[in-house]
Amino acid sequence: MGKIVLAAKVTHVPTMVMSEQDGPLKGARQAAIDGHAEIGRRAREAGADTFVILDTHWLVNAAYHINANHRFKGMFTSHEFPQFIKDLPYEYEGNAALGDLIAETARENGVYTLSHQVDSLDLEYGTLVPMRYMNRGPEPALKVVSVAAMCTVHSLEQSRKLGEAIREAIEKSDSNVALIASGSLSHQIWPNDIYAENNGTFTISSKFNEVVDRRVLEMWQNGETELFLQMLPDYAKYCDGEGDMHDTIMLFGALGWDRYTGTGEVITEYFPSSGTGQTNVVFSLD
Ligand SMILES: [Fe+2]
Repeated sequence: MGKIVLAAKVTHVPTMVMSEQDGPLKGARQAAIDGHAEIGRRAREAGADTFVILDTHWLVNAAYHINANHRFKGMFTSHEFPQFIKDLPYEYEGNAALGDLIAETARENGVYTLSHQVDSLDLEYGTLVPMRYMNRGPEPALKVVSVAAMCTVHSLEQSRKLGEAIREAIEKSDSNVALIASGSLSHQIWPNDIYAENNGTFTISSKFNEVVDRRVLEMWQNGETELFLQMLPDYAKYCDGEGDMHDTIMLFGALGWDRYTGTGEVITEYFPSSGTGQTNVVFSLD
């Protein structure tokens, strides 16, 4: 019987990739990179064999979708930010059986979900950036399953149920899973015309958003799950949650929703990026 051995909400900002490279951003996101590496270390220590990533950069307009390819290999350039992430090589083994089981379980629970094995269905950077830092040598690599979490026409209720199905399927499988919600906290990117004058790469676009983000982090650290879930729809709406925060909804669905009694541990201190609020948080498990 498989289980969720680690659960986290994580950043995936492109400046992490640039932080590796020579130039004005070199080293700027080292804390976020170190946070990912620590989450990867903890996942391995907890016995994870697979990362399931809830990816707020995979946009879907009907149904829920899982990229359950047997293998992922390619060279990624971001369509959103080709100047930031380009020619990023990647290669991971997939876990097709788990992806298929999640979709099957979700459909049994009334959530129409499709699992795909299509060689040319590649990964988005909500998956690739965390995997670059969490899932790399010298340790043996973990398998990867990516779940679309930029859900444009999907209800909170259905995404919560998908999260529950993810947990149920993992427990029916023989996989130990690190479940990663890949998305920011508030996500109001600076308007293009005033980005530079506000030093946009390193600042938040709305103090209101920052105050709410910081309070959310306190809620997670204090285990105020019920209160957080009550405000989550408004938080996603008024603070421009990335992908409407369907990653976070799925994550809490998998954790047990309002029955979850654990707490969040901040692994990377809150930081602003391009107007948005970012962090890495690991959630305790029973
Ligand atoms: Fe993003």
